[in-house]
Amino acid sequence: MKTFGGVVLMAGALADGFASTAHAVDAARAQGIANANACMGCHAVDRKLVGPSFQQIAAKYKGDAQAPAKLAKKVKDGGSGVWGMIPMPAHQSMSDADIRTVVEWVLAGGGAAASSSSSSK
Ligand code: HEC
Repeated sequence: MKTFGGVVLMAGALADGFASTAHAVDAARAQGIANANACMGCHAVDRKLVGPSFQQIAAKYKGDAQAPAKLAKKVKDGGSGVWGMIPMPAHQSMSDADIRTVVEWVLAGGGAAASSSSSSK
């Protein structure tokens, strides 16, 4: 029983550690990419603008293993019909790596990189 508990605890710690490390590293980069590619002109982290908020997107695709690939393609090619009639334009000039970074960040809820999220709008 002792061993069992230890294994579970360790697995949990590993998962947490991985998630928060990946997050801390990627959020700053992802945010920079999102800003540079005007994603934030149509999206906000916590409220709907032209497109859905990144938190809405994260909630919708929670637990969907296909989501990173599916959404990377969607960002690259553009499209509509999932959230409404307004289409998202294609982003053909973005590198796949940049798209992937931003999509993973979006799927994590688009959290702020550092403590810069305290603007009260
Ligand atoms: C001109 C406005 C606009 C820009 C710029 C834009 N988006 Fe979107 N985005 C939308 C709209 C509108 C939707 C909803 C599309 C739909 O209903 O299928 C959307 C949907 C999405 C989705 C969810 C797609 C789905 O199928 O559920 C993701 C992820 C996303 N955008 C990420 C991004 C990223 C990353 C960028 C920057 C590279 C970006 N968007 C730039 C308008 C925009």
